[in-house]
Amino acid sequence: MAELSIAIAGDLHDQWDRSDQQLLARIAPDALLLVGDLSDGRARIPRLLAELDLPMACILGNHDTGRDPSGSRLQRQIGLLGERHCAWRLRELHPPGLAVVGARPGSAGGGFHLSQAVRSVYGPLTMEDSAGRIEAACLAADPALPLVLLAHCGPSGLGSGPDDPCGRDWKVPACDWGDQDLAVAIARARRQRPLPLVVFGHMHHRLRRGGGERRSLHRDSAGTFYLNAACVPRHGHDPHGRALRHFGWAVFRGTELERLSHRWYDPDGPLLYEQTLWMVPAPVLPC
Ligand SMILES: [Fe+2]
Repeated sequence: MAELSIAIAGDLHDQWDRSDQQLLARIAPDALLLVGDLSDGRARIPRLLAELDLPMACILGNHDTGRDPSGSRLQRQIGLLGERHCAWRLRELHPPGLAVVGARPGSAGGGFHLSQAVRSVYGPLTMEDSAGRIEAACLAADPALPLVLLAHCGPSGLGSGPDDPCGRDWKVPACDWGDQDLAVAIARARRQRPLPLVVFGHMHHRLRRGGGERRSLHRDSAGTFYLNAACVPRHGHDPHGRALRHFGWAVFRGTELERLSHRWYDPDGPLLYEQTLWMVPAPVLPC
């Protein structure tokens, strides 16, 4: 079975430029997923992304509304991204053979709330509307393809501590700040088809109160993996002063997930660091 490598760009917050485009050309993942918060509503990054010749899917985040309640800044970016933006719908990428379902755009987490900008663009959807759309898109995906659910904020139910994948870390008491519509959609869709991987961002890895790092991977009792890719800032330097570019990384073999990690690349291409979060256990050989 063919191996499929997916690069996942966490919240960019303006940290995306031609060096990232050139890096992607060098490392050549089979697909690129972006979890949103590209900037604060500017068009620069959507324009750059539209130049990339790479199978891609994106969901925009709360920052991408640019605090513009009319929705025009959000709409402008959606227009520039075109088919790449997959809010509340299925996007099948051929090649490489990957089904991506986008969840609710513009989410700021915390259960269910539609910002005025999102209402202006998409209408006054209820939580049930949102969950139903996500579920329907999952069920429309070709079962022969690996399926990834792409969200800005992850679902509720992954823990209520400040360091949990969607835990509120900026205010006491900490609580579960995940999206309820996404959790409902996942539970319903999974009754009818496997869902190996959910990727998202929004809740930055570096914790705001008390320091430390967020837990960026969760696996639930049904076997679905949840990867928080929000390493912010994603442009950094190592202790030797070498420039780093972060990507979350997922490897499928066929429809089965094989490996999840965080990767930090030299902008010129070499992989400098990899934190393996999970990999498929080695088979037990008979004695
Ligand atoms: Fe966000």
